[in-house]
Amino acid sequence: MNYQPTLDFARQLDETDPLRSYREQFFFPKHKDEKVLYFCGNSLGLQPRGVQAALERELDHWREHAVEGHFRGEMPWMYYHRFLLPQSARIVGAKESEVVVMNTLTTNLHLLMVSFYRPTKKRFKIIMEAHAFPSDQYAMESQVRFHGFLPSDAIVEVAPRAGEETLRTEDILATIEEHGDEVATVMFGGVNYYTGQFFDLKKITEAAHRTGAVAGFDLAHAAGNLPLQLHDWGVDFACWCSYKYLNSGPGGPSGIFVHERHGNNADLPRFAGWWGHDEGSRFKMEKGFIPMPGAAGWQLSNAQVLSMAAHKVSLDMFEEAGMDNLRAKAVKMTGYLEFLIENLNRKAQRFNIITPKDPEQRGCQLSILTGNEGKKLFDFLTENGVVADWREPNVVRVAPVPMYNSFEDCWRLADLLGRFSN
Ligand SMILES: Cc1ncc(COP(=O)(O)O)c(C=O)c1O
Repeated sequence: MNYQPTLDFARQLDETDPLRSYREQFFFPKHKDEKVLYFCGNSLGLQPRGVQAALERELDHWREHAVEGHFRGEMPWMYYHRFLLPQSARIVGAKESEVVVMNTLTTNLHLLMVSFYRPTKKRFKIIMEAHAFPSDQYAMESQVRFHGFLPSDAIVEVAPRAGEETLRTEDILATIEEHGDEVATVMFGGVNYYTGQFFDLKKITEAAHRTGAVAGFDLAHAAGNLPLQLHDWGVDFACWCSYKYLNSGPGGPSGIFVHERHGNNADLPRFAGWWGHDEGSRFKMEKGFIPMPGAAGWQLSNAQVLSMAAHKVSLDMFEEAGMDNLRAKAVKMTGYLEFLIENLNRKAQRFNIITPKDPEQRGCQLSILTGNEGKKLFDFLTENGVVADWREPNVVRVAPVPMYNSFEDCWRLADLLGRFSN
């Protein structure tokens, strides 16, 4: 697209944006009585206006029915997880039986590793990206130790080449191949939190399968950001959170995916709880765990109804807006912000975007490597009403989110970047 660096042009893009009305369905924090320039949806999404009413509905239900609320009303709590299945499945490209919403992300990653990291003396390695989100690193290290291995022996990290910031797919695939029949599990982020790089999940999964390993992904930065096809790509397992692009509020519930070829395998080890037990006999309160079919069989506890009610509001909005439309806008809008930043760099190279240029290898986020002036730049942006985030050691991350950001937001951000002097 032929972009122009003018405010008029940005406004024209907004006027022709078919998703522009969604912006009004969110609350924006204020800075000096104006909406902030919110670029932090990759960390915590904004609050949809509909959330309050949805929570109040559940509070009313609780007040009026107490324990009977489990069985009464349009969405009885007993079956609450079901009401989130169709939309969750479409967000990640899965069958309904392959997903469920439960717990929180790191908890779910551990639960899935119980089933999908079953090391033997010979096949015990986990392949992951270097500089994965710390919680994933801690989770993998503790899993490895739990099975009696040392992280230094069992965890293989794929790192960028010297002088490069992001990973080459060929290097990921070569590492998997090199460790061959020693690889138990390949566990990658979908989108790396620091660089914003979107990995080729299909190729990584195929490479893992060629060695006889399984492949799973932490989709915290991918769910609701990029179209995913977990079922067709043959991914074995995945989990994600709902408070970033999925706008479901702080500590919002997590989703999991278990491919159908594993979902009905009752022999697969798992840490079980009563909510994963066969629905028909759950209340007989008898010994002997019979898993529900599919991903639902990994549930432990009864539904976190209040946070799931907020999540449902957001999932309904995704359903209505359509992931393909959101993606089309994201490609255009992230491309526009990139164009504006590169336009500033024409005078002097000050903002080094480390996120891949190829739209196929990124979602909304752009990570700007800032050098020595980084923290000052970040503080300048904050003082001027921008909400972005700072990641040590020296990256400012900005995410124009198609659900509620405008092209004008991008223009205003670039205008401030241009005005920053150290
Ligand atoms: C990639 C990634 N993984 C894991 C987590 C941890 O999530 P939680 O605190 O919900 O377990 C985060 C949180 O931001 C994340 O970005």
